[in-house]
Amino acid sequence: MQITGGDIKLMSMFRDARHSLSPARRIPATVTFRPRAVLVTGGARRIGRAICEALSARGWQVVVHARTPGDEDAVALADRLGGKPVFADLSRQGAADGLFADTLAAAPDIRAVVCNAAVFSTAMELPPDEAAKLATVNVEAPLRLVELLAGHLADRGERGSAAYLLDCRILRQPAEEDTPYAASKRALWRAVRADAVRFAPTLSVNGVAPGPVLPPADAENREKGGPMLLPRRPSPGDVAAAVGFLLEAGAVTGQVLAVDSGQSILT
Ligand SMILES: NC(=O)c1ccc[n+]([C@@H]2O[C@H](COP(=O)([O-])OP(=O)(O)OC[C@H]3O[C@@H](n4cnc5c(N)ncnc54)[C@H](OP(=O)(O)O)[C@@H]3O)[C@@H](O)[C@H]2O)c1
Repeated sequence: MQITGGDIKLMSMFRDARHSLSPARRIPATVTFRPRAVLVTGGARRIGRAICEALSARGWQVVVHARTPGDEDAVALADRLGGKPVFADLSRQGAADGLFADTLAAAPDIRAVVCNAAVFSTAMELPPDEAAKLATVNVEAPLRLVELLAGHLADRGERGSAAYLLDCRILRQPAEEDTPYAASKRALWRAVRADAVRFAPTLSVNGVAPGPVLPPADAENREKGGPMLLPRRPSPGDVAAAVGFLLEAGAVTGQVLAVDSGQSILT
């Protein structure tokens, strides 16, 4: 793009206009989003931990959720970031309500939720009790947390944001996976748009779809990264940066950002 003499004149007129205003009426160079408290589910380790660290660096007070009461990683991370740890086994019915109440007690100025906790499985079929747990952790709990946040903020006349962690493999056309895990992430993908409409203007709701960031911790589910357009796997920090951007993007809702080094557009 070429900058002409006319552009330079306009820019200097704008700069002069800014400086001629009284301090109170001066036009801000950028509109600054003021972060408050955010709950990150499954925040003690791996991608969740990177999200907690990135959001803290952006000025958020982070509430670090882990499954097991007293989880040492969650306690240490919250301590280091000046946040709070909270604990809940999200496979239990109703756990999301308890977790939200604990989060409010820990951080009354809660404005955002990052639904990161998930059960991963490559199995095409699961025994009914495991399938039910996966559905509760991956779908019911996140939907309920976002609903509770929206209700809480609407009651107070405040606004906030939410992010669902999806998976880039559900974005590929044709869809290559039909596992219960993939189905759970597809349900969240639908929720991104449905919740964006349902909870506007109180909440902006967006999704981040990571590609092959980290291999699963258990050997059973260990898999190769697969083909990508860009030369490296996305890092936890790449995913965390996308989450941070979307939580603070005042004019973006109902969108999904794939952080997958191009994997989802490869056919
Ligand atoms: N890793 C990847 O490359 C990749 C790729 C695509 C999408 N994703 C998505 O990105 C997100 C983070 O990925 P990740 O690999 O870091 O996830 P992960 O390690 O598989 O799981 C994240 C957290 O979920 C929590 N969790 C699982 N079951 C729970 C339960 N019953 N109650 C409460 N918490 C529970 C665990 O918390 P505790 O540690 O406290 O038990 C765990 O730390 C997930 O939503 C995942 O589906 C990841």
